[in-house]
Amino acid sequence: MSTLRVNIEDIYQFATEDQVQSLMPTVEQSIKTLYAGNGKGSDYLGWLNLPSLITPEQIDAINEVANDLRSKSEVVVVVGIGGSYLGAKSIIESLSHSFTGSIEGNAPRVIFAGFNICEEYHSELLELLDKKTYSIIVISKSGTTTEPAIAFRLLKQHLEAKVGKTEAATRIVAITDPSKGALRQLATQENYRTFIIPNDIGGRYSVFTPVGLLPIAAAGFDIQKLIDGAAAAEKQTGFDIPLTENPACLYAAARNALYENGYKTEIMVNYTPKLHYITEWWKQLFGESEGKENKGIFPAGVNFTTDLHSLGQYIQQGERLIFETVITVKNSKRKLEIPSDSANLDELNYISGKRLSDVNRMAQLGTTLAHIDGKVPNMSIEIPEINEYWLGNLMYFFQKSCAISGYTLAVNPFDQPGVEAYKKNMFALLGKKGYEEQGKLLREILGEEH
Ligand code: PA5
Repeated sequence: MSTLRVNIEDIYQFATEDQVQSLMPTVEQSIKTLYAGNGKGSDYLGWLNLPSLITPEQIDAINEVANDLRSKSEVVVVVGIGGSYLGAKSIIESLSHSFTGSIEGNAPRVIFAGFNICEEYHSELLELLDKKTYSIIVISKSGTTTEPAIAFRLLKQHLEAKVGKTEAATRIVAITDPSKGALRQLATQENYRTFIIPNDIGGRYSVFTPVGLLPIAAAGFDIQKLIDGAAAAEKQTGFDIPLTENPACLYAAARNALYENGYKTEIMVNYTPKLHYITEWWKQLFGESEGKENKGIFPAGVNFTTDLHSLGQYIQQGERLIFETVITVKNSKRKLEIPSDSANLDELNYISGKRLSDVNRMAQLGTTLAHIDGKVPNMSIEIPEINEYWLGNLMYFFQKSCAISGYTLAVNPFDQPGVEAYKKNMFALLGKKGYEEQGKLLREILGEEH
């Protein structure tokens, strides 16, 4: 039967089976706490049973708006940062054509903004949009996050200047808090269509809410299949599944056992650039959930074989604090064989006739063996193929693993108090009202030219 599989066998020379077993009671307590809803951050558990609770009517409502945007746009711009964009971005990038950036056929291209403050990026975006028909999906729970607020202000004015205020309002959809915040207020005032980010779901756990679903549907992908895959993972990682058969518990136990043994950096490895943004999403999920109270595994990512030619040297022989988690994709959707060449100057004829996916598999096998030999613990997470169903399955699995792992580490996996520090300094330096004292202090530290 096709299923997501976690294999932790290759960590046992670095963290023994007994050690992993000895963590199981804590992991068991963690999953109990999660389902009992009485742990740290338990106001934010709306994602836990979400896939099995989503109704066909909710999916239809999202698809209806997505289809309307698709029918009138060459480009859909999604504005958001962190958990308000990475889920959608990772699925759309994984499923889109690598070079056209969209689903094959005539779907609009979905592009992203509001996740940086780069002047060139936004200028070039507006330059592109000058020549395109476009719509905007603006996503912000608080409605006041600086990066998306700046991008949305620019885009709103650009769109209104281009098509007029009334038409612009039909091309803007806001996804935000059900009742409060600046974006909710603006959406009501301007009569935008809206979807809500439920109060009990934080940004990085929101991919199966309209935050992820509307942009993914606007890109032309099947959100019902995504939810079906997530719902299957919800069952597979459920409370009633024995711990050793529960992939989320296994993964949480294995990474915490390695952490206890000094492996403080986890590298998420893929062998296809299609999964690059899944890793980016995973980095946020685990980094924001676990990195607090001076604790937490540092989540990093590599795309192999590309990064074997940059970071491979460090991984093989640098400081021994790294472990790797490899996402293995069993089947490639396309078929491409290495041709034979009569001159054979590149000496590749020994693999002519082989599929690229076979060569990639041997690269993966060879790399894993070399890294284990170099004392890098390895585990793998296998999915059958890259499609909506299996990405939904994988992402829900990671959400559940992250919550269990965070509780095992005894932190609150649902808050992110550290994110505020840079914001306060930035507001103070920009002269925002209420930050005058801190601004004075920072200017004294930084000196005259600031
Ligand atoms: O995971 C999180 O909670 C954060 O990454 C937020 O999603 C991010 O900061 C964006 O916040 P907001 O949606 O309020 O603009």
